[in-house]
Amino acid sequence: MTELHTLAEQLAAEHDLPDEALHALIAGRNAEIQRHLVQRAEALRQKIYGNRIYIRGLIEFTNHCKNDCYYCGIRRSNGKAQRYRLTRADILACCEEGYRLGFRTFVLQGGEDPYFTDERLTDIVRAIRAGFPDCAITLSVGERSVQSYRALFQAGADRYLLRHETATKAHYDRLHPPAMDFERRMDCLRQLRRIGYQTGCGFMVGSPGQTDEHLVRELRFLKDFQPHMVGIGPFLPHADTPFRDQPGGTAELTLYLLSLIRLLLPEVLLPATTALGTAAGDGRERGIRAGANVVMPNLSPLSVRQKYMLYDKKICTGEESAQCVACLAKRMASVGCEIAVSRGDSLIRTQHNDFY
Ligand code: SAM
Ligand code: FES
Repeated sequence: MTELHTLAEQLAAEHDLPDEALHALIAGRNAEIQRHLVQRAEALRQKIYGNRIYIRGLIEFTNHCKNDCYYCGIRRSNGKAQRYRLTRADILACCEEGYRLGFRTFVLQGGEDPYFTDERLTDIVRAIRAGFPDCAITLSVGERSVQSYRALFQAGADRYLLRHETATKAHYDRLHPPAMDFERRMDCLRQLRRIGYQTGCGFMVGSPGQTDEHLVRELRFLKDFQPHMVGIGPFLPHADTPFRDQPGGTAELTLYLLSLIRLLLPEVLLPATTALGTAAGDGRERGIRAGANVVMPNLSPLSVRQKYMLYDKKICTGEESAQCVACLAKRMASVGCEIAVSRGDSLIRTQHNDFY
């Protein structure tokens, strides 16, 4: 056994490693150690979740955004983006269709759009809660005040996804304009957990300036914070952003990190993301094999799909929701898995640690 194999075995047995060992695994990665990690991660996912893959219906309900992240295609300064907002009725129609297709979680995602005041958004959440009492409601609408997070929770939202994007402040400042603040984002994550949301964080793989040291810090942050969900996907450039000429992150490194994350956080809900499926045609299937256990098909109306363009060449923008579900079911079957009709709540009991 090589030293890296020994470290992989230790990680699989203990679900943690010192930072230097994580660094060795990341910096020394090769196809053989990747195969080894995939085996261990897939076996662990299988042991905990069996072959059931949870689906989340993604409703991209607004692409208006007041922020200006350097990487994002719907950033405020992108004058070429065709802006749209779904109405309350549109959103409920998406849920209706999603429910028929077997979804029991709806993810409302959007840019930071001031139109969606607490009053408007809580009204929408309450309507979904009343109409679909057996479904989970996940929000992914960026940074808001604690009062707002609380009001949305009380209105019936169960989960919140807020990628921290990077656990290193200097790197955060490289990816965002000065008006955006690393500490504030981390604070939002802590608040969300304290309120009682099942909380998801995450980062882009291969974002400009990201080093192996940064990746070790990502993994350490995840291990310390113990999120219920972790969303990672490759950074992919968008032609109308300041990062248009930056190289994209790779599917290979993303898959490698998915395995490491499964082994570090055995019970975590881990999606094989659309960005991963964009970086490689079989990215989502390979993501599942690497340890992921969630997929998030698009439930947005066909008419707006092309407009929620975070990065170039995004997949699944030309298909009806039903087609997306059928396609994903086939893809999951190709790796021995099946889609579960279930809320798919986190198995992680909310625990108290230093982050509270
Ligand atoms: N506005 C909300 C927020 O900030 O959390 C949710 C929407 S935001 C567009 C969702 C995620 O898309 C971001 O957290 C980011 O990680 C990802 N994203 C944005 N631009 C991307 C790009 N060019 N490549 C890959 N992922 C990207
Ligand atoms: Fe959308 Fe395959 S998941 S077309």
